[in-house]
Amino acid sequence: MKKTAKKIQKFKLENKKITALTAYDYPTAKFLDMAGIDIILVGDSVANVVLGYDSTTKVSMNEMEIFTSAVSRGAKEALIVGDMPFLSYNVSYEDAIRNAGRFIKAGADAVKIEGGSEYIINLIKRMTESGIPVMAHLGFTPQYVNTIGGNLIQGKDFETTIKILEAAKKLEAAGAFSIVLEMVPKESAKYISERLTIPTIGIGAGVDCDGQILVVNDLIGKFDDYSPKFARKYFDSKEMILTTAKKYIEDVTSGVFPNDTESFSLKNEELVKLENHK
Ligand code: KIV
Repeated sequence: MKKTAKKIQKFKLENKKITALTAYDYPTAKFLDMAGIDIILVGDSVANVVLGYDSTTKVSMNEMEIFTSAVSRGAKEALIVGDMPFLSYNVSYEDAIRNAGRFIKAGADAVKIEGGSEYIINLIKRMTESGIPVMAHLGFTPQYVNTIGGNLIQGKDFETTIKILEAAKKLEAAGAFSIVLEMVPKESAKYISERLTIPTIGIGAGVDCDGQILVVNDLIGKFDDYSPKFARKYFDSKEMILTTAKKYIEDVTSGVFPNDTESFSLKNEELVKLENHK
C-alpha cells in the first residue's frame, strides 16, 4: 500500500520508527521499495555521489526532474520526496511553487526544502495550501554551507538547540509533515524530537529521532571520496565492482568470455554454406 505523507506523520503517534534512504535511479528505487523502505528521498546529494560535483549546490532542477521520474517508476509504495535544489525555492514564492510542481509532475509525492527562516515558514504554508506536502530540513543544511562556513555540527549548546526547536515548531505549525535533522548532537535531537508532534528524520542526529535517513551510496559503499562519521557502510560495492571488473577483464583477455551458451549459433546447414564459400 502506498505510504502517504499523512501516514508517515502517524508513524510517530504509533511509535513506529521511520526508515528512509536516498535513491536516484529506477533499479535502486525498485529494490528499496521491495525491501519495504518507508521514504525514498531523491536527494540533492546526487550532485556528489552520482554526478561527481564537489557541492550539492551544483545540481539543477532539470537534472533533479530526471532522477525523480526514474525513481517514481521504480518505487510503488514508498513515499517519494523530491529534494529541491539550491536556489530553486529561494528566489520567490511563485518560482518555488512552480518548481515544487515540477517535482510532483515528475512523480514525487512531496518535496524537501532546507532552512527555518520566515521566508521558508511562509513558503511551507503556501506549498501545503497548494497541495504539496513538505519535508523540512534543519540542523546542518548543506545548501547554506557557504554561509555556515563548513560542514559544522549544529545545536552544540543550549541556546542553539532552543533556536532549532523554535524554528522546528514554526515549520510544524506552517504544515511541514516531517523534519530532517542533520548533524545535531544526539541529546539535542532527542530534546527537539520529544517536543514536536511531527516526526524528525535524523542523519547524524542520534538514535532518538523518530526515523533515520542515509545516503544510499554510503550504505552500500558506492562512494569513496569521503565518508561521514554518521554513515554506516553495510556493503562494499566498490570492492564488488573492482573484483568483478578485474575478473571480466581477465576473462575477455584470456578468451574465456563469452562461452558457447553466451553466444548465438548458426544452423548447421548455414554453417556448411559458409565453410564451403571461398
Ligand atoms: O540530499 C540528501 O541526500 C539529503 C540527506 C538528508 C540525506 O538531503
